[in-house]
Amino acid sequence: MHARITGWGKYLPQRVLTNKDLEKMVDTSDEWIVTRTGIRERRIVGDDEATSTMAVAAGRGALEVAGLSPGLLDMVIVATNSPDRMMPASAALVQHALGAKNAAAFDVVGACSGFIYALVTAYQFIAAGAYENILVVASEAISRAMNWEDRSTSVLFGDGAGAAVVQANEHATDMLSFVLGNDGSGADLLYIPHPCGMPTNVSNDRRYYMIMEGRAVFKFAVTAMVEASKQVIDGAGLNIADIDLFIPHQANSRITQAAIKALDIPSDKVFVNLDRYGNLSAASPAVALCEAVEQRRLKEGDLVVLVAFGAGLSWAAMVLRWQPGA
Ligand code: UT7
Repeated sequence: MHARITGWGKYLPQRVLTNKDLEKMVDTSDEWIVTRTGIRERRIVGDDEATSTMAVAAGRGALEVAGLSPGLLDMVIVATNSPDRMMPASAALVQHALGAKNAAAFDVVGACSGFIYALVTAYQFIAAGAYENILVVASEAISRAMNWEDRSTSVLFGDGAGAAVVQANEHATDMLSFVLGNDGSGADLLYIPHPCGMPTNVSNDRRYYMIMEGRAVFKFAVTAMVEASKQVIDGAGLNIADIDLFIPHQANSRITQAAIKALDIPSDKVFVNLDRYGNLSAASPAVALCEAVEQRRLKEGDLVVLVAFGAGLSWAAMVLRWQPGA
């Protein structure tokens, strides 16, 4: 059976944390953050919110766009690196809150590549003929894993959620190719040891915060984005010039610039929301895809590349022929 994305949604918490705000919290500057990362502000989850509550809001939006009742969902997949609890999956909480009574539910921990990993998983269940309606949500309360005294991580990340509905379609599949990869030898370069519940489970013990070797991840990121993009475009039988929109993981504008330079992609074909949200981890490509549609950067028939990298060290990419209608 063929499959297509038919709905999209997003949720960003109200609280805005600007670079100027961060200047009061840690030894950094707006100038450093903007020039070294491209980030100007990010959103921070409210005390009464969590990964699951943001996922529910984004998921509801996607179901509404798809015109699909939650009761018809066969599966809910949540991609997150900041789950409410160690157990059960955040997807279990989302399934219940949405009233998706007939859906299987599980989480994907794929770091910043998680949304694409989860989307590809959804396509496989539909291609196999097992399921027809799947909600994929990527949601992060990753600020709860921040050591606010560590300027090498705390200035980079933000919270939010994005979602997509994938449904069986009798005509054609919109995903033309995908690449998923991981190199576990880099697992110690970026990690979080524990979950991130409401309002916060984080103790003051530094061992519970995100740890990252930024320069090493930076180098890996550029190569991973370039190679995964090339492979996935090649796998779809296309050339780079055929791609209408490139949606890279929103981690650092210098990483994106280096990747698109190596790929020879003009910057007007690249979607950017990093300046407003920072790195949303798994939610980054999900929110970017949703905003690209809302801003009409993505039109029926367009060819789009989604590409991400992250802890693992993982990478993931897909080419879509955007066809949410018919
Ligand atoms: O989804 C995947 C998530 N992770 C990533 O994408 C991370 C990839 N890495 C990066 O984006 C960059 O490596 C960082 C943004 C983390 C760091 O940028 P950089 O250009 O690699 O800086 P650096 O680590 O080489 O540090 C340069 C200087 C250092 O000072 P000295 O030793 O030259 O005096 C740092 O201490 O910048 C200093 N520095 C800062 N200064 C002000 C590092 N962070 C900050 C900061 N504010 N926030």
